[in-house]
Amino acid sequence: MTAKINKQTHFDAIIIGAGACGLMCAVQAGFSGKRTLILEKNDKPGAKILISGGGRCNYTNLYASPQQFISQNEHFCKSTLSQWTVEDTISFFETYGIVGKEKTLGQLFPESDKARDVVKVFTDLCRDLGQEIICNADVKNIEKVEDSFIVSVEIDGIPEEISASKVVIASGGLPIPKMGATDFGLRTARKFELKINDTAPALVPLTITGKDQPWFEQLSGNSIFCRVWNDRASFEENILFTHWGLSGPAILQISSYWRPGEYIYIDLLPYQNIAELIQQEREANGKKMLLAYLAGLYTRKFAEALSDRLPVEKNLASLTKADIEHITSLIHGFKVKPAGDKGYDKAEVMRGGVSTDELSSKTLEAKKVPGLYFGGECVDVTGWLGGYNFQWAWASGFVIAQGI
Ligand code: FDA
Repeated sequence: MTAKINKQTHFDAIIIGAGACGLMCAVQAGFSGKRTLILEKNDKPGAKILISGGGRCNYTNLYASPQQFISQNEHFCKSTLSQWTVEDTISFFETYGIVGKEKTLGQLFPESDKARDVVKVFTDLCRDLGQEIICNADVKNIEKVEDSFIVSVEIDGIPEEISASKVVIASGGLPIPKMGATDFGLRTARKFELKINDTAPALVPLTITGKDQPWFEQLSGNSIFCRVWNDRASFEENILFTHWGLSGPAILQISSYWRPGEYIYIDLLPYQNIAELIQQEREANGKKMLLAYLAGLYTRKFAEALSDRLPVEKNLASLTKADIEHITSLIHGFKVKPAGDKGYDKAEVMRGGVSTDELSSKTLEAKKVPGLYFGGECVDVTGWLGGYNFQWAWASGFVIAQGI
């Protein structure tokens, strides 16, 4: 999708990035009669929407509230999330033919299970509202000249300069560079001397190396419902063992709160008490081997893997008080020290970004640079797994559209 820019057209704003935030911003601006131009580096809009939720797009979460967002300023997202709520997202998509269905934990997906239906809502609306999307448009630089911005862009490799009085940075974060992710938002913030909070991959699998790695590798493919926690957060969902470490929703969630060098803790039997369960079983069946008992709670493979850590060869009747204490601490407080994470190639989002101190929480305009707005993932607001990040992207796009 490439078109020539009509230089006669006056654009109220140039939006950098046709992702969730940029597309919502263009459409909402169009509803208020404003003209915008979206410049998108990829050859099509909404690349990340298309791959999201395994191609099905978990486009919001019924339970989204400011508590599920991580930021150095935990209050910052409140204004944006209250200006465009989950109900607004649901009714917006319903208006354009997308009915949501909840999969689990409030996660809403289109009934069609097709992320491309979500992108089509925006491309159709942009067309109908006269909002231009230029693809293969790699924005290189933005300069402020008096009250205007000059945007330098290469369209199909040909340099162009376009001026606008307002510019929206909706260029996303660093995850998945091969899908067009760039540091443009961070670079632009630095250029205008705006503070950036440390960035890192988030919602990302964690790696285990060294002597522990073979233990995790032997369980590759096994998934267990667990509670995973550290000092900052706790999540109850599945974990998945892989040949290089740990993945699955509970691990992705805790990864956003994990820092290198720290432990994470795993309760392998949430809501139950292994000591009590063993006691009940041994009254009925004291001859049962611990291995057989654990194989009934988990898979045989997992029970066997525990054999180097627990006295699985003993029968339940012969377990000592010390054995039970040891079993309890391992099952309810399994300690793991990840070596690292799988990086931006596998992360769903970037943590950190443009400091919220630099932005108006009501409009998302840079306080020091009137006319320059930041929304979506490049801002230091990061949601949990489960549709929260799109809710932030839609909401920030809406809020910016009110100001441009
Ligand atoms: P987004 O990344 O969507 O868009 C930014 C756009 O800017 C890109 O199209 C990029 O090409 C363009 N761009 C960058 N630099 C540019 C430049 N210099 N010039 C021109 N264009 C430029 N979230 C969720 O809530 N539910 C889900 O199901 C999922 N699933 C999911 C799966 C996977 C694999 C990933 C990687 C991520 C998710 N997410 C998710 C997260 C979600 O995709 C993410 O939070 C939003 O896409 C962020 O929206 P933005 O508009 O901020 O950036």
